[in-house]
Amino acid sequence: MRRLQQLGGTTRAANGDEVDALPRSTVSTILRGDKLPRSEFVSAFVTACLVYGGQPPEKVAEATERWLAHWRALYATGATEGAEGRPARDAPLAEEPKRWSVPRHLPLGAPFLAGRAAELDVAEQLFRRQSGGGVFLVTGSVGVGKSAFAVRWAHSLIDDFPDGQLYVDLRGPHGPLDSQQALGVLLGSLGVHEDDCPKDPWRRVERYRSLIAGRRMLVVLDNACDAEQVRPLLATGEHCRTVVTSRNRMSGLVAREAAQRLVLEVLSSEAACAVLSAVIDEAHLVEARAELEELAELCGYLPLVLRLAAVKFTDRPGQGFKSFVRSMRDGGQLLSLALDGDTGSSIQDELEFSYRRLGLDAKRFFRKIGLVDETGFTLEAGAALAGIPLAEADRLTAQLESEHLVAEVGGRRFTMPRVLQAFARAMERNAGEARTLMLA
Ligand SMILES: Nc1ncnc2c1ncn2[C@@H]1O[C@H](COP(=O)(O)OP(=O)(O)OP(=O)(O)O)[C@@H](O)[C@H]1O
Ligand SMILES: [Mg+2]
Repeated sequence: MRRLQQLGGTTRAANGDEVDALPRSTVSTILRGDKLPRSEFVSAFVTACLVYGGQPPEKVAEATERWLAHWRALYATGATEGAEGRPARDAPLAEEPKRWSVPRHLPLGAPFLAGRAAELDVAEQLFRRQSGGGVFLVTGSVGVGKSAFAVRWAHSLIDDFPDGQLYVDLRGPHGPLDSQQALGVLLGSLGVHEDDCPKDPWRRVERYRSLIAGRRMLVVLDNACDAEQVRPLLATGEHCRTVVTSRNRMSGLVAREAAQRLVLEVLSSEAACAVLSAVIDEAHLVEARAELEELAELCGYLPLVLRLAAVKFTDRPGQGFKSFVRSMRDGGQLLSLALDGDTGSSIQDELEFSYRRLGLDAKRFFRKIGLVDETGFTLEAGAALAGIPLAEADRLTAQLESEHLVAEVGGRRFTMPRVLQAFARAMERNAGEARTLMLA
């Protein structure tokens, strides 16, 4: 035993002290099979035994890796590191030890979701058809309600995932989390202490996958930027599913990971009016149906814009609803909609995040097509406006479509919601001013 202890060497304790990797008391507890040891213990113990038996270093490394693989498989069945009791070997985790505290990390769903019953039905059907390990993607333009929809839907699936629901806000446009940071969050949700998170990126992915393999878990990756960011985070276990939301269409995820994609369109006029009247006191809306519909249209039927407009009005209702709607006809007013004291949350800020992700040529094209009227543009008209070849207009339109900044309305004709158009025009004015300054 003393020899084994010497060969096991030392390790760093949580407080930074150097301690024996194989303390006697731990060795005897582990050998009794009362506890699943820590992975560091497995490495040290296997190494010490094989070195003691005179095995060459390459054999030691190979055998240690093999034992660690066994350890990972046991760990994945729910036998938490260092936990009391024998690890469960065959039974699925959901019926297993009570010591696994089931993570239920979905945020509170929006109390009221207007006009999404049909989409919830479609999502349900697609979900039932999908096999295990599947990815479900909710995409659509800025503020169309992707996160609210995904969270509401995820709540309805809780019974299908008794081992837990993980949620991480990838903060897509707002300074995104990179995959490694997001894995840190997910591992934390699975009970892995920050100090125990592997530093090596690939080991981090492996640890995450091992921990959820065999479990019935739902993982919601909200506000993703692009496919690259989410790939390492996908729940690959046979009984797991991942729901991703993004402004980006993520065609790569559909092509390579066979993600099912649901595109959320803007609300109907009726549902958009319902969003407004859920916030605005009905006393202000008496004999103002036409204005209510106009405000819904000005807001592009986008829930985020609708809610900001409604809250803005209720913060200062003194001017009267009709006059408020008139003031919103000015695109600048619409763009500056934000909640008092909530900096960085105006519609303009939200749109700028999406705009900044575009290349220079796509930015310029976006500004130019913002100049057309509500009936939209054809590729030929877009090419003429921007002074570029047709093929180039086609390529740039596809890029803008991919970020949901324009949408096809049929017959190769494209439009953008009013609020986006106001934004494109504001950007064009800024670009014009910058050019003038440079020439001055
Ligand atoms: N159908 C709806 N009915 C009522 N309110 C809604 C609806 N959809 C979304 N909302 C509300 O609108 C706001 C914006 O929604 P959400 O954050 O889901 O949009 P998003 O598409 O995820 O935005 P982003 O593009 O910034 O990720 C939230 O306050 C949400 O509760
Ligand atoms: Mg969102």
